[in-house]
Amino acid sequence: MGYEVYIRSFADANGDGNGDLDGLHDRLEHLAWLGIDVVWITPFYPSPRFDMGYDVANYCDVDPIYGDLDAFDRVVARARELGLRVMVDLVPNHTSHVHPWFEDSRTSRSSARRNWYVWRDPAPDGGPPNNWVQHFGGPAWTWDETTGQYYLHLFLPEQPDLNWDEPAVRDRFDEILRFWLDRGVSGFRIDVAHSLVKDARLPDNPQLRPVTPDMSPGEVHDSFEHLYDVDQPGVIEVYRRWRTIVDSYDALLLGEVYLRDPAKVRRYVASGDALHTAFNFDLMHMPWEVDAVRRTLRSLTDNAVGGTAVAISSHDRKRAPTRFGGGPEGTRRALALLVLTLGLPELTFLYQGDELGLGDIDVPDDLADDPAGVRNENKSDSRDGCRTPIPWSPEGPAMGFSTSERTWLPLGERKPDDTVAIQRDDPGSHLHRVRELIAARRHRTDLHLDGPAAQWMEASDHIVAYRRGATIVAANLSDQPAELHLPSPDWAVAYSTLGDGRPPGSATIVLEDLEAVICDLETETD
Ligand code: NOJ
Repeated sequence: MGYEVYIRSFADANGDGNGDLDGLHDRLEHLAWLGIDVVWITPFYPSPRFDMGYDVANYCDVDPIYGDLDAFDRVVARARELGLRVMVDLVPNHTSHVHPWFEDSRTSRSSARRNWYVWRDPAPDGGPPNNWVQHFGGPAWTWDETTGQYYLHLFLPEQPDLNWDEPAVRDRFDEILRFWLDRGVSGFRIDVAHSLVKDARLPDNPQLRPVTPDMSPGEVHDSFEHLYDVDQPGVIEVYRRWRTIVDSYDALLLGEVYLRDPAKVRRYVASGDALHTAFNFDLMHMPWEVDAVRRTLRSLTDNAVGGTAVAISSHDRKRAPTRFGGGPEGTRRALALLVLTLGLPELTFLYQGDELGLGDIDVPDDLADDPAGVRNENKSDSRDGCRTPIPWSPEGPAMGFSTSERTWLPLGERKPDDTVAIQRDDPGSHLHRVRELIAARRHRTDLHLDGPAAQWMEASDHIVAYRRGATIVAANLSDQPAELHLPSPDWAVAYSTLGDGRPPGSATIVLEDLEAVICDLETETD
């Protein structure tokens, strides 16, 4: 069971309003109590934070707002004591524009590191070398006055893309991997893992539809077929090389392969000598409709790539309860989906706050931070709402997140019932339901990664259900009761999102609206 820690919003130990490594250290017990095995920490490296740390200025250090390397070592040591493994976020596609490599690269065309980034002459009309667009709006090229060339950035101009055709870049990243492995990390979440290598000829991407001024950056990006800037054949070689390194440490390579096409993602994992696993993001893109949920979950198993990681929320998307309608209903929908997801043979990551059933916060414009919103007229892509601090307890100026009332993003309208402390004391809380769910999965080998394949069951229009060995997982996704037909009366409801199980005795049971269950085949023992 994985857990994503968005470090700046997790827990603040030094009272400056920013989450930090000491804060994480002090709260690791919460994750162990919850039943987590692997903690992925988002970037904590020195950074000017134009893209919240995904613009790294030094890959082998800790930004002072998060602590220092000793604080990181304490996190790893404490995690080990608690039986948790720590993964760090590796950002190899781009650096910060203030990384010394880029500062050197841009000094002159003959700089020793010129070829570490992607520099090109202008097109004949003086404009960018091709039509590639960046993710946060605008062209993927920025003109550099000093050396009279453009440089490539698939994200912000402050995030220049590294040139992975340059052998020195590959060598340097081998060292970076070893640096963190030697400090005891158990793996890497690899940022934009599908993009490192580009077609060196830099052809235009085919345009699929006209781009209009009212489009969000995401819509502009999706208006092109990304034939040449992502998913190039050579990228796998990078992971083959890294695999030989991490295997000797028994560590994991988890790719953020954001391709939304299982056949393409398979290439990164299936050969067994590249990535161990890759995220599938479809759960974060589906609407709340029974057919869509059924189809999306089925495609996870039908298109199993031999190692898939999934999440219902992340720091890049609106939180699941918000996406699914908000309010108590959105939260119950998110829990039902979590049950269905956790029963499948995937590596599931909770995003911090999923265990509390948190939805997004409305962050006012004057407190906004995310470039996806701040830098665009159309703010619909802003990710601030899902990135606000975790409410730990009802007391204090920042609900236990910080001793300061000035937090980097606001806590917003969180209620006492949203907090970890109140939910831990309430056996009927969302937190307890999630904890029991994680335990229920752990205790059933049929639901483990290497358990039997899921057999999808014929069920009513409202119910999604599958069987793995002696376990059935089912959810009523509608707002009215629905009947679940079990193969025989010998099945007992062992886990329910409503709290109470049901003994065996009937082959038809009624699931309440949005109730999800795990059922066991009861076998007689004497
Ligand atoms: C994916 C990260 O999750 C996101 O937060 C970031 O903006 C981009 N990659 C660029 O690094």
